[in-house]
Amino acid sequence: MKIVVLCGGISTEREISIISGEGVVRALREKGHRAILLDVYFGDEYVQLMDAFPEHYDIDAALQKIHACDEQLASAKANPTRSFFGANVIKLCRMADIVFLALHGQNGEDGKVQAAFDLSGIRYTGAGPLGSAMAMDKRITKIMLKAQGIPVPRGISVMKGEKIEPLEKYGLKYPVVVKVCCGGSSVGVYIAHDANAFDESLSTAFLYEDRVIIEEYIEGREFSVGVVDGEALPVIEIAPKEGFYDYKNKYTAGATVETCPADLPGDVAKTIRSYAVRGYQALCLEGYARLDFMMQHDGRIYCLEANTLPGMTPTSLIPQEAGALGIDYPTLCEKLIEVSLKKYGGKVR
Ligand SMILES: Nc1ncnc2c1ncn2[C@@H]1O[C@H](COP(=O)(O)OP(=O)(O)O)[C@@H](O)[C@H]1O
Ligand SMILES: [Mg+2]
Repeated sequence: MKIVVLCGGISTEREISIISGEGVVRALREKGHRAILLDVYFGDEYVQLMDAFPEHYDIDAALQKIHACDEQLASAKANPTRSFFGANVIKLCRMADIVFLALHGQNGEDGKVQAAFDLSGIRYTGAGPLGSAMAMDKRITKIMLKAQGIPVPRGISVMKGEKIEPLEKYGLKYPVVVKVCCGGSSVGVYIAHDANAFDESLSTAFLYEDRVIIEEYIEGREFSVGVVDGEALPVIEIAPKEGFYDYKNKYTAGATVETCPADLPGDVAKTIRSYAVRGYQALCLEGYARLDFMMQHDGRIYCLEANTLPGMTPTSLIPQEAGALGIDYPTLCEKLIEVSLKKYGGKVR
């Protein structure tokens, strides 16, 4: 198949998206596909459209080109009138049989690219615009999950400038979690143990976004579950050696112990997996997604959020969960394409 692996962009998760993209393009090449790697924002004005999906492809050269754009990032972000799609991006995506979205965070994961692609006749992996947009917004996510009877941490959302009453009025007490409504990769997530830390967390979170979630801190064990084509993968446990699962613990090798399948009684694992599947359905997700959970010391389980384009590096959580079933990384990448194609009737053009 001719496949564009789309990565990069200008979200706070650009770096990790490029690592996901690299992993996916290598895996798909290994499987014999004519996959190419493209930065959604910077594109490639020198690509030979006549031979855009070559038999032999230099992945390292593609990565070098993408990283050469890193330094233009600040000035690019300051130019809001520029199209989000870089040179030749739409053209190449239209020429591909499918686009593997290795984007993470704003613009890539929030449904806008998906909507643009739907209108342009471009096929892509994962959820469509509606599910992506709902899952990107943690306030909407919690409303949808709660309506399905899936427990979520008690909390509120506040807009910048809005007056906040004492926490007790909302049934909250310290510690609380302060997090940006549409963030990812734990950027803009803080645990506040007292009023000073709370004020500081709020001011910092509002530097990123105008809407912030304040919710009860669930102390206990953390889990995540991938859902592929409506079916849950095995539960993975995430245990940072220090602190919580913040950006550093997510992306520093060895900082977090990840165990799959998680050491849990069968019925508990079953409950978490069924919440994951029901959450996936409630949020109108398609293809694949990953839902994050906390289990309080008393055994109560809470869903934190859903990720529609979860990390896809070879050591990311979903690849580990698939690995526990004996599905290797290249096979998983191919499977995600196969299940995403179902939406389009399952056939390659
Ligand atoms: N209510 C909560 N209680 C305890 N820990 C939390 C809570 N909310 C978030 N966290 C911690 O912060 C991390 C990131 O939060 P999450 O809601 O998953 O946002 P994202 O991954 O999109 O940045 C979680 O993996 C978890 O470790
Ligand atoms: Mg998360």
